[in-house]
Amino acid sequence: MTRKITANIYMTLDGRGVFPKYPGSDRTMRTANALFRHMWISRYDDVTTVVMGRRSFLGHRRVWSGKARKPSDPKYFFDYSHFLDRVDKVCLSNQLKEPGWENTRILKGDLAQILTKLKREKGGNIIVEGGPRLVQEVLRHRLADDYWFFVMPVVYGRGPRYWSKMKEQNTLKLLEVKHGEDGELLLHYEGIP
Ligand SMILES: NC(=O)c1ccc[n+]([C@@H]2O[C@H](COP(=O)([O-])OP(=O)(O)OC[C@H]3O[C@@H](n4cnc5c(N)ncnc54)[C@H](OP(=O)(O)O)[C@@H]3O)[C@@H](O)[C@H]2O)c1
Repeated sequence: MTRKITANIYMTLDGRGVFPKYPGSDRTMRTANALFRHMWISRYDDVTTVVMGRRSFLGHRRVWSGKARKPSDPKYFFDYSHFLDRVDKVCLSNQLKEPGWENTRILKGDLAQILTKLKREKGGNIIVEGGPRLVQEVLRHRLADDYWFFVMPVVYGRGPRYWSKMKEQNTLKLLEVKHGEDGELLLHYEGIP
């Protein structure tokens, strides 16, 4: 079966790749909310590769590797960290020499070629998990099969931008819309080749 490539896009209403505070965003949750369950927990079995740009990779390693877990963290944090520890991780970088996180390859070069090569490897589905710079390239060159936009209810005006000049119009097909408890939207689109 062909491996599907999903790009995750976490953005404010003005298309900035940041995680700002808004009412409810910093509420302590002992269990995962519905959007987290949908985006991640329901995919732990089918996703076997996670691709990240260097900055995003280093951020995830610092915050989400198993080593970062504290005993007081909720169980779903541990589950997410176990998933990220064991999954095949691809860090894209020209600079990084040692990943410092198990099950990681550092790759560099043409993104389309890298993703095509990953798609041909054996395994389950693939998530491109940011950051914005990398995802922008994926969108510009239509490299993903589907796109999950996690939109936060904030016009922020700062932070990395998702949107800049495109090569051409890229029309997507809406598959589903889900609402978060605190005004977030999850927009799931399929790419049209
Ligand atoms: N899911 C997320 O991780 C996420 C979501 C939203 C916002 N953010 C925020 O976004 C910021 C990081 O995102 P970003 O857009 O600045 O950076 P990024 O996309 O995570 O990383 C960019 C780096 O990836 C490497 N890279 C990308 N494509 C490559 C290729 N084809 N070959 C070789 N290297 C390649 C380059 O690293 P080298 O310089 O090493 O060559 C480049 O500088 C952070 O502030 C984070 O908090 C992250």
